[in-house]
Amino acid sequence: MTIETVGIVGAGQMGNGIAHVFALAGYNVLLNDIAQDSLDKAMATIEKNLDRQVSRAKITAEDKAATLARITTTLTLTDLGQTDLVIEAATEREDVKNQIFKTLVPHLKPTTILASNTSSISITRLASKTDRPERFMGVHFMNPVPVMKLVELIRGIATDDETYQTMLAIVAKLGKTAASAEDFPAFIVNRILIPMINEAVYTLYEGVGNVQSIDMAMKLGANHPMGPLELADFIGLDTCLAIMHVLHDGLADTKYRPCPLLVKYVEAGWLGRKTGRGFYDYRGETPVPTR
Ligand code: CAA
Repeated sequence: MTIETVGIVGAGQMGNGIAHVFALAGYNVLLNDIAQDSLDKAMATIEKNLDRQVSRAKITAEDKAATLARITTTLTLTDLGQTDLVIEAATEREDVKNQIFKTLVPHLKPTTILASNTSSISITRLASKTDRPERFMGVHFMNPVPVMKLVELIRGIATDDETYQTMLAIVAKLGKTAASAEDFPAFIVNRILIPMINEAVYTLYEGVGNVQSIDMAMKLGANHPMGPLELADFIGLDTCLAIMHVLHDGLADTKYRPCPLLVKYVEAGWLGRKTGRGFYDYRGETPVPTR
């Protein structure tokens, strides 16, 4: 299938990165969100990240201008109806995602592929609520999208081979590498990564180490680019907790129980970088551990 125009629902942390990489690869992008402020912030972020790529000579100033020119923003979800591929990158809540698909589906071309960037929700279940489970799949990008090389591809039980092959070709055109995962809770990356982060929070909770020593240990002792608590703040503690719940509910194994300290941070609204405070306090010049 030829894909030329791509609709992206949600202009947040993931949506703006996805818009960036598609537009840079030559696709026309229609970026949708419910708030004009979010769309404006997304365009500013994309421009800043393109500037970063220009300054490191990864792309030219002409590439940057052409990329920005290929992105159009809209507050009207149904405007995405005429695109060839829609990627939903909205809030990680199943009811929100279902509502988006319900609104969008009557306006879609019969051939349009629907995809979700969900980091953990069942693709089969999301697909079953649409009119096209065979042309529905999971396309999971990693944060920061312009930098991370992996895209997880998840087929629901009904996804057809043409849809999967089309997405494989798109991932290659984006200059990224695909890893195929079966549709089980949290797929591959988050099935492994988020319990590791949860274990790091238990290590903090039980007083085995403080924030600094835990992050230092994993950075210098396991060559991770970020320590697990720094990474948790980067991903968002609410997202980490939501994924632990998906694992705990979906696999019914107590080894996935969310750490009470993670729950407490989320209850406090200390969600990490995006709220200015998490395992580190980002409100000053340099991040300061909160424990
Ligand atoms: N857009 C474009 N380029 C960016 C960027 C962005 N948002 N952020 C960083 N970069 C580029 C920089 O320009 C730099 O480019 P060069 O290599 O050409 O110099 C490169 O990335 C490295 O950046 P920095 O030197 O500024 O910083 P760093 O070396 O500390 O790296 C990092 C930053 C790439 C984020 C690194 O710390 C890292 O890899 N961290 C781990 C990220 C990770 O694990 N992501 C997965 C999260 S899990 C997930 O996303 C799944 C989920 O569902 C929860």
